[in-house]
Amino acid sequence: MVEIIKIEGGKRLNGKVTIGGAKNATVALIPAAILADNSDVNIYGVPNISDVESLTEILESLGVSVESPESGHYKINTSNMKNVDLDIDAVTRLRASYYFMGALLGKFKSVRMIMPGGCYLGPRPFDLHLKGFEALGATVDYSQGYYTIKADHLVGAKIYLDFASVGATINIMLAAVLAEGRTVIENAAKEPEIIDLANFLTKMGANIRGAGTNEITIEGVTSLNGKPHDIIPDRIEAGTYIIMAAAMADDVTIENIIPLHVEALTSKLIEMGVNMEIGVDSIRILKSEDLKAVDFTTQTYPGFATDLQQPMTTLLTRAEGASTVKETIYAERFKHTAELQRMGATISVGTAQATITGVTPLFGNKVTATDLRAGASLVIAGLMADGITEIHDIYHIDRGYDEIDSKLKALGAKFWRETI
Ligand code: EPU
Repeated sequence: MVEIIKIEGGKRLNGKVTIGGAKNATVALIPAAILADNSDVNIYGVPNISDVESLTEILESLGVSVESPESGHYKINTSNMKNVDLDIDAVTRLRASYYFMGALLGKFKSVRMIMPGGCYLGPRPFDLHLKGFEALGATVDYSQGYYTIKADHLVGAKIYLDFASVGATINIMLAAVLAEGRTVIENAAKEPEIIDLANFLTKMGANIRGAGTNEITIEGVTSLNGKPHDIIPDRIEAGTYIIMAAAMADDVTIENIIPLHVEALTSKLIEMGVNMEIGVDSIRILKSEDLKAVDFTTQTYPGFATDLQQPMTTLLTRAEGASTVKETIYAERFKHTAELQRMGATISVGTAQATITGVTPLFGNKVTATDLRAGASLVIAGLMADGITEIHDIYHIDRGYDEIDSKLKALGAKFWRETI
């Protein structure tokens, strides 16, 4: 028995949607919480997504207590924590389980875990994370399916990242906050989720400067204490609803949003002719017609987010002319295009790029979510299409979209699940 999503397309959207806490911050903050010494860590705004359930299972396997006194509030306490091998299934369900490498290495100077999982977006090595740990004095061994990473002492170092990797920046920060002396991460990633993590660690007693720039300096401290933290809004969830509204809104307001975090998207949409009003912490999208084709290239923040490339591809089927999308972060992140073609889209895919020709009306069909944001692109396509769309492998969507059913229904979408 599996669950599928069905969408009856063509309904105009109206009303308000409130964005949840950022998935990609949450998946770093939860492992970071184990760095606190025996005191409660209260995290607020935790999205209701299956990635959080997987991380909770990992925490519990480490003997960490996790309570959720109310929706979105997680209370984490490490008093009874033990550094056991991480080899439960949950580790393979998401990529970010590898943040326990940095956190456990930082706290216990050793970690043993199996290969993390996550969406297949082409090869996703994490060599830069491991090189960072080695630079701090750890040894890394991979044998019989386990990574064993350990150090007598972790000592701060200067680490230049060959690529401004989000994951490597976060993992090195997690390992370095309790290391001896100064760590400097050069060519660090600048994504807002990194600033959120730095703010959280700083509240707990870490000494971090430069998060949000390409050079992050961490002066090691000897201990951290639990402190409360509110997660920043999810810019990718926000971007997904903005794109959806650009296609289908009569009048939709997206609330709990930091407009600066989605500026690369909103400026492209304005270029396309989308009718929007940008507020302080909300964006209103009004009915938008006669959209024009645009070209864009995915880049690290503050460039156009690769995670919004897939939802944006769907919208471009509705724009007049040929739009070219270049993908510089994950060359193979185009699996959604084959599914969109099944729904009538005219898309040609080349090496790390796709050309979408519009206006092409979409029709409902049976499609498969091949990864999280591919799933989002198909939800938008289903809302736009004539007839009923049936989406399979929806566990990908549930990994990262908080309360998607109720949010879409509140906007007037005809969206439901069936078990087959
Ligand atoms: N890379 C390496 N070696 C490394 C690390 C990365 O070659 O050691 C390469 C990757 O293969 C990729 C590029 O560098 O080509 C970017 O990887 P990065 O490390 O920046 O990404 P990530 O940390 O694996 C996070 C998000 C992704 C998002 C990217 C880019 C989380 C948990 N994941 O991944 O989010 O696409 O940054 O912004 O934060 C999603 O939410 O759907 C998602 C995939």
